[in-house]
Amino acid sequence: MAQRPDTITMKGVEIHLVDPPSLDVDWVGMQEPLTQLLAAWSEDGSDPAMQPRILGKPGVGKTSLAITAAKHMKQDLYITQCTVDTKPEDLIISPVIADNGKIRYVASPLVTAMIRGGICLLDEGNRMSEKSWASIAPLLDMRRSVYSIVAGVEIKAAPEFRVCVTMNEDASTFEVPEYIHSRLQPAIHMDFPTREEEYRILRGKLDGPSDDLIRQVVELLQVSHARDEDLSVRDGLNIARYAYRLLKFDKSTDERKALDQSIQQVTGENRGTLDGPKLV
Ligand SMILES: Nc1ncnc2c1ncn2[C@@H]1O[C@H](COP(=O)(O)OP(=O)(O)O)[C@@H](O)[C@H]1O
Ligand SMILES: [Mg+2]
Repeated sequence: MAQRPDTITMKGVEIHLVDPPSLDVDWVGMQEPLTQLLAAWSEDGSDPAMQPRILGKPGVGKTSLAITAAKHMKQDLYITQCTVDTKPEDLIISPVIADNGKIRYVASPLVTAMIRGGICLLDEGNRMSEKSWASIAPLLDMRRSVYSIVAGVEIKAAPEFRVCVTMNEDASTFEVPEYIHSRLQPAIHMDFPTREEEYRILRGKLDGPSDDLIRQVVELLQVSHARDEDLSVRDGLNIARYAYRLLKFDKSTDERKALDQSIQQVTGENRGTLDGPKLV
């Protein structure tokens, strides 16, 4: 792992860096997108690393893929969660008032990764406005740098720095401007896991639920995928986990009833039950 100084001084300005989150995923199956991401991030002689975008529905494993790839590269992963409210300084350097009343300059996860030679995931990038994208456009071409208006310094990315963006394929997002799109290549598409992979993911993450309960949830997910609906691995995990807890707490229920109730409550929609007139 890269060394971690807490501050650096540039042009007389002290900049505070942030710590990477500690994250781990036991990645199951789905080698194709992992290979693609690692290939895109590799250097080829003097030809630099690429900046891929990872696309797929919510809950298919986009964030987990980036965590897994960073682990393969033995580099720290920093995550910037992009929202409609993300401002350029949130992506670069923010001024905050310190205890002594002075301004303290705090680097974003992105800038920290650039300085320390880590990896940055811009998570759910298509929620972010064009103005914010514009502020990091120079990072995404051969300049590999950003300029902080707030601190008055230019920050150059270390050679080991890598970046990728995840984008949810759902409607509640902005169109990313074309000149940015063309800098976020290649596109890595993620689809739902297979039945066997889904079973292994759920089984690996949940100790409590019976095998039978897990298999029923996987079946539900597979039916949903086949119908091109939006139930994801994350939904499946929550359905199995909540059904198991209902079973533990409510002695009057049985597995079937607990599952039906969990499906209703987790999906938050009237999807019906395991075999009702559901999943429309
Ligand atoms: N291939 C996989 N291996 C292990 N866990 C997975 C896999 N795909 C999805 N998951 C799990 O499913 C959940 C949702 O994944 P996440 O990466 O947050 O999805 P997304 O970022 O696409 O919304 C997480 O708990 C994650 O660990
Ligand atoms: Mg995500």
